[in-house]
Amino acid sequence: MHLTKGEEDVLEGRAGKGAQKAMRILVALGDIYGADSLIPVSKVQVSGVSYKNLGDEGTTFLEEFVKDGAQVKDGVVATLNPSGNDLIDWAKTGFKEDLARKQQRIIDAYTSMGILPTCTCLPYESGFQPNYGEHIAWAESSCVIYANSVIGARTNREGGPSALAAAIVGKTPNYGLHVALNRKPTVEVKVETEIKEADYGVLGWVLGKTIKKGIPYIKGLKKPSKTDLKYFGAGMAANSEIGLYHIEGITPEAKNYKGADGKLTIGKAELKDGYDKLNTIKGEGDMIYLGCPHLSIEELREIARLLKGKKVKKRLVLVTSRIIKGNAMREGITQVIEKAGGEVYADMCLVIGSIEKLGVKNLVTNTGKGAHYLPRYANVGVKILSTRDCVKEALR
Ligand code: F3S
Repeated sequence: MHLTKGEEDVLEGRAGKGAQKAMRILVALGDIYGADSLIPVSKVQVSGVSYKNLGDEGTTFLEEFVKDGAQVKDGVVATLNPSGNDLIDWAKTGFKEDLARKQQRIIDAYTSMGILPTCTCLPYESGFQPNYGEHIAWAESSCVIYANSVIGARTNREGGPSALAAAIVGKTPNYGLHVALNRKPTVEVKVETEIKEADYGVLGWVLGKTIKKGIPYIKGLKKPSKTDLKYFGAGMAANSEIGLYHIEGITPEAKNYKGADGKLTIGKAELKDGYDKLNTIKGEGDMIYLGCPHLSIEELREIARLLKGKKVKKRLVLVTSRIIKGNAMREGITQVIEKAGGEVYADMCLVIGSIEKLGVKNLVTNTGKGAHYLPRYANVGVKILSTRDCVKEALR
């Protein structure tokens, strides 16, 4: 990979040890993937935040970076993925102080480097949406696939260390989805059944499981909303290496292509098979969990509308970003939900957090991604319903 004189200086340590370590990560990555050069990035989403994932070793790795003087490059906006618990209301959620303290150490390390503690997988709805064609370095597969497909920004699926390195250097290796030629669809998918509500997350999961690697060009989807696309991409990326899809007549780059050579058809039977595989419980859940990916303000409004004047009979946990929660509080939405007995949290992801520590065994949710990971990560049984039916289940 070609480096400029300034980049060589960083690699030689003339910009400090932290920047040197970050540059070494980027150069190793660029060499592995055959990148020709480094390109500047404007926004970085850093993953690897939950204590459950990082543990003490991961925390020390970050604190070493801080000691080495690593700082986010001027001009780069670096945001953070969800943590394992709500940074303020952890006790209300049911987490113990010891875990919250360990989690806070990780957040402190990131913020000391200049990373904004946004703690959300919805940066694009929390004030940090990139523009069409903008080069960014985002980690967290659901927001990566959303940025590439729905917005038309350009990012590879970064890992925690490579995103952190990109934030510090302000650049990322130029390969993969940063290169226009690599954004061409590789398989054409015809959807021959009606898709609505929770089907989107399950359909995405089915496509991810079937295609595994490549870029689908999808035909047959009628007017999915941006919320539908959020769940669709999250389900797909959870189960594959896919970081970009095109939908005919919907996503911004689809107009550049007519289809793709590989062909695949998805009908009622394939969708049902997806539900059968993801639903690991048949009966009721002990908790209803909505917020994987984090809930948007529109979804919170809808949930408040469904709950208004009623009382939940089961624990209803809703998760969003702190920025969206602030807006929801100003609109009076959280007050309506809380009056009905629902709980609204920010910052956390119960999938990568320690949901098992809350005593949950069976959970009802609306997300293909959550249904994919929860049984694997936390040994929690899952049933998928639409958002509306999840709320009904909480009220029953
Ligand atoms: Fe977000 Fe966690 Fe789901 S990071 S997409 S809430 S697994």
